[in-house]
Amino acid sequence: MNAPLIDPFARAITYLRVSVTDRCDFRCVYCMSENMTFLPKKELLTLEELDLLCSSFIKMGVQKLRITGGEPLVRRGIMTFFESMTRHLDSGALKELTLTTNGSQLEKYADALFAAGVRRVNISLDTLDDDKFARVTRWGRLPQVLRGIDAAQKAGLRVKINAVALKDFNEAELPAITRWCAERDLDLTWIEVMPMGEDMGDENRIGQFWSLKDVRAEYENHYTVTDLAERTGGPARYVRLEETGQKIGFITPLSHNFCESCNRVRITCTGEIYTCLGQEGSADLRAPLRASQDGTELLEQAIRAAIGDKPKGHDFDYSRQQVGGTITRHMSHTGG
Ligand code: GTP
Ligand code: 5AD
Ligand code: SF4
Repeated sequence: MNAPLIDPFARAITYLRVSVTDRCDFRCVYCMSENMTFLPKKELLTLEELDLLCSSFIKMGVQKLRITGGEPLVRRGIMTFFESMTRHLDSGALKELTLTTNGSQLEKYADALFAAGVRRVNISLDTLDDDKFARVTRWGRLPQVLRGIDAAQKAGLRVKINAVALKDFNEAELPAITRWCAERDLDLTWIEVMPMGEDMGDENRIGQFWSLKDVRAEYENHYTVTDLAERTGGPARYVRLEETGQKIGFITPLSHNFCESCNRVRITCTGEIYTCLGQEGSADLRAPLRASQDGTELLEQAIRAAIGDKPKGHDFDYSRQQVGGTITRHMSHTGG
């Protein structure tokens, strides 16, 4: 292994999130605009380039690789890429190969993902109501996602549901979603909505912000809540509901900043590296990647230079009753 990646704040970078496409078959309101224009296919890193890039990071100590999008499973040939990463699991260098998906294509791909060594998937699901699901995802249809969740579980994948906490949208559904997850042995993580992309007009992000402090208080009204020390390498902190035994995660970029323990960087589908989700700064890795086909020295230098510039943290802030620290980039650009 080459020298590990350590940022200026002594944080070791061991988690790489790679977006393999900016496209998605949904248009979630907090992630994309309705009429997104997507990049021409020739702008995307090829599957071979993605392999070289990820393999370089793994050589520098990345142990967890999460594939994101857009929707990663709409990228043509993506299973070939997952299969090419299996060798790093086999060698022990990579500890976890995983993805975050909207679930729409899981019926088709769950078995192949398991065969490639994926053991856990995170699936976005904010509501169990058909109409509300269609409203928040604009183009999504709930039954298709529910079939995807079933298929993932049948294939042997551990499933975590990601629900973005939205006041006046899924607030009243908390008990139902929690029960539904308990009945199916699904983990559940709530996420605070982050101010990215353009404002949503009527569905304004400040108005929709539902602090996870309040979500936790809501659980405490109904359950005995025990904090767990366990981590998955991501930003979530977990609790157990003693009455059901289920695990609930909280991702709180706004109400409790977790940047001091950040271990991750993101790559877009065009090969830009973002060392913080909540900052605009990025660096190009595509040019050094293309210049490095016969050796990865230039690429490694570029990666180390980018990590040497990793900021201390984001400055998302709703407290001034204006969308402070808004990032105009859409969430789909960096894959969450
Ligand atoms: P686990 O491996 O299950 O812990 O997954 P994860 O939470 O790392 O990944 P997932 O793709 O499920 O991310 C869930 C949410 O966490 C998404 O909304 C991400 O945008 C958010 N998230 C992940 N990392 C960061 C981060 O560094 N900063 C911020 N602000 N949000 C993050
Ligand atoms: N704020 C919080 N979470 C978001 N996601 C997408 N956009 C946002 C946002 N603005 C979530 C998705 C998915 C994960 C990758 O990011 O629901 O679960
Ligand atoms: Fe697609 Fe996920 Fe963005 Fe929704 S949140 S539009 S499913 S990438």
